[in-house]
Amino acid sequence: MPAKILVGTQWGDEGKGKIAHVESADADATIRYQGGNNTGRTVQDEHWKLVLHTIPTGIIHNKIAIIERGLVIHPPSLVVEMDALKELGIGLDTLKISPFAHIVGPWHILKDQGSEAGGDGTRIGTTGQGIGPCYQDKMGRKFAIRVSDLIDKAHFLEKLGNVYRAKSEKLRHYGGLSPFEEVRDSYLAARERIVPYIADTGKIIQELLGKRKNILLEGAQAYLLDVDHGTYPYVTSSSTGSVAGLMYTGVPFDEVVSILGVVKAYVTRVGRGPFPTKLIGKEQETLRSLGNEYGSTTGRPRDCGWLDLPLLRYAVNGLHATELALTKLDVLGHMRRIKVCTGYEDVSDVGAFEFLDLESQVPIYEEIDVEPLGEADRIFDLPAWAQRVIALIEEHTEIPVAFVSNGPERNQYLR
Ligand code: IMP
Repeated sequence: MPAKILVGTQWGDEGKGKIAHVESADADATIRYQGGNNTGRTVQDEHWKLVLHTIPTGIIHNKIAIIERGLVIHPPSLVVEMDALKELGIGLDTLKISPFAHIVGPWHILKDQGSEAGGDGTRIGTTGQGIGPCYQDKMGRKFAIRVSDLIDKAHFLEKLGNVYRAKSEKLRHYGGLSPFEEVRDSYLAARERIVPYIADTGKIIQELLGKRKNILLEGAQAYLLDVDHGTYPYVTSSSTGSVAGLMYTGVPFDEVVSILGVVKAYVTRVGRGPFPTKLIGKEQETLRSLGNEYGSTTGRPRDCGWLDLPLLRYAVNGLHATELALTKLDVLGHMRRIKVCTGYEDVSDVGAFEFLDLESQVPIYEEIDVEPLGEADRIFDLPAWAQRVIALIEEHTEIPVAFVSNGPERNQYLR
């Protein structure tokens, strides 16, 4: 290949985990490049189901699995994930962690959850995992701890103590941190488990490229949650786009052979923010329950709505996506009639000002009668209503739908 970038085109939860699970089987290495354990990618096979939060999906196929420098890592949660993999008999030998990645401390979680509890209208609806405050400290540079700080135990203890003291002072109004001894013991235990996997990931990536190996860059969250391109301030705190993948990994532009945007056949969103095609009441509940739309990290019910083609086009353009993977089409097959938003009233294309005013956009819908997807071996064999949805997507985005996922398990997809 060598490099393929997998990115979300909506507000996350498009089913990237399933696509990554399939795509990583053909890759020599998979890399997470931004975000943290605010994301959850569900991967499942006939006999098991697993939610990966920080570790790239390649680990499942025993491929090199790199946690790159753009990530913020919560060590105790990473250990839980490592244990879950071990329990399934999946080895961790291929896991590589960048020394430049940042560490999420309990102070980040306290601040995230404390500021979200404020009820003063500034709530974003975060996952409460401390991700935003950790990126704030990364940019602030004074209180950041990086993976490289874990390497020397004495140095780490000193740094942990210093930051803990400074932060407990600052965060007193949020109720205070757990006692230092507790934090120290949990972070030291996690440190022991993580240090063996710290590696010069930049060099590994360059060597892989030199050998023409196949690399899959696994984006987390999605374009509309990007801190600069998304529905600010209702976004995550990292750059979620395809170009961010290159920035954090050092993979050069001309090595990229595909930017695969993942689009769900309907739209979901957790947290606050504008959502033009959001359903209300019973219709929303029906779609949520058919699609089992509950957060894989927080368990929160996701808001659900119809596929929004103007926004999809906006995302595809911003991501420079070259092809699309359409997920959960089978879910729509359980309804009698669906809608697809093909435009907004008085708006021909979404640019900056329409995007800033997303709240007031009034969708125009095409209604389509549907039936269950049934058995199909190729995209071409899908029923007429599914063909119509695909045709609308291709017409509006001007890129092909190359992959259709028609069920949660790894082998349930069509090309
Ligand atoms: P944070 O990333 O926890 O700061 O949350 C900021 C916003 O991004 C909230 O609306 C979250 O619900 C959303 N968000 C973060 N990660 C994901 C994800 O993986 N899927 C869907 N939404 C996410």
